[in-house]
Amino acid sequence: MKHFLKLLDLSKEEIIELLNIADQLKYEHKNKIPHRRLEGKTLAMIFQKASTRTRVSFEAGMYQLGGHPLVLSASDLQMGRGEPIEDTARVLSRYCDAIMIRTFSQDEVENLAACGTIPVINGLTDFSHPCQILADLMTIRECKKSLEGLKLCFIGDANNMANSLIVGCLKVGMKVSVACPKDYEFEQTILNFAKDYEGFELTTDPKIAAVDADILETDVWASMGNEAESAKRKIDFAGYQINDELLSLAKKDAMVLHCLPAHREEEITAKVFEEHADEIFEEAENRMHAQKAILLKLMG
Ligand code: CP
Ligand code: NVA
Repeated sequence: MKHFLKLLDLSKEEIIELLNIADQLKYEHKNKIPHRRLEGKTLAMIFQKASTRTRVSFEAGMYQLGGHPLVLSASDLQMGRGEPIEDTARVLSRYCDAIMIRTFSQDEVENLAACGTIPVINGLTDFSHPCQILADLMTIRECKKSLEGLKLCFIGDANNMANSLIVGCLKVGMKVSVACPKDYEFEQTILNFAKDYEGFELTTDPKIAAVDADILETDVWASMGNEAESAKRKIDFAGYQINDELLSLAKKDAMVLHCLPAHREEEITAKVFEEHADEIFEEAENRMHAQKAILLKLMG
């Protein structure tokens, strides 16, 4: 594994290996066993979009590994004034040991990786959010003890989260059902990938998707970059909500996950959110452990 750009690039074995490393790092962190395995290494982090979890979990994780994180807002870089990503890649490759980037286009992340000489990690694009899905799989495995055969149901937009959940869950042997309003269509790359898996189901009806699910997951109706369409989306996504009624269709012991930030009474009710807050905040914590596994795999 040279980069961590999207889950389509990883094999099942590579995903499971990262989850195993993440579990070990979480154990060491909880038991105060030092693991400063990235001493002297620098991670450049470029943000073209807002972030709480990704920024803080990478920054704290890098410190825990003994390395040095550099947080760079794209608007402070010459990139924000038009310097090509290809030149940014070549320059950062001479100072740093890896780059994490959160931006709009997946192509930009792929270009950064192609033009630089150091590992690149995708911290979210419009197409994918692989770090989040690694943390989600870690959280599911912690709670359910294995992944094989479990059914995850995603309710909401055909966005970066849905794309990455479909790929990540199917690759590790889970089933995935997605309920998404008509007119919000998945990219062909994702549909082409998923069509080979019997365990994949796509519907416009949340009540069909949720039946017998082991995990219900959702995300905001309007992602970063879609803010201008928020009002329209509130109409289009009405009913695409994790609430008690939907939860009653899933398995009795179903988990509820949300990558956060959450909009209560939109994609999830406050009641369901609070009843599943332990799982949701464990998921947020696991971002740090999962990303430390990625950092070690790429830079260790
Ligand atoms: N889930 C997630 O990526 O959160 P942030 O946008 O706060 O980084
Ligand atoms: N789909 C959301 C995820 C936020 C972590 C977004 O892109 O804004």
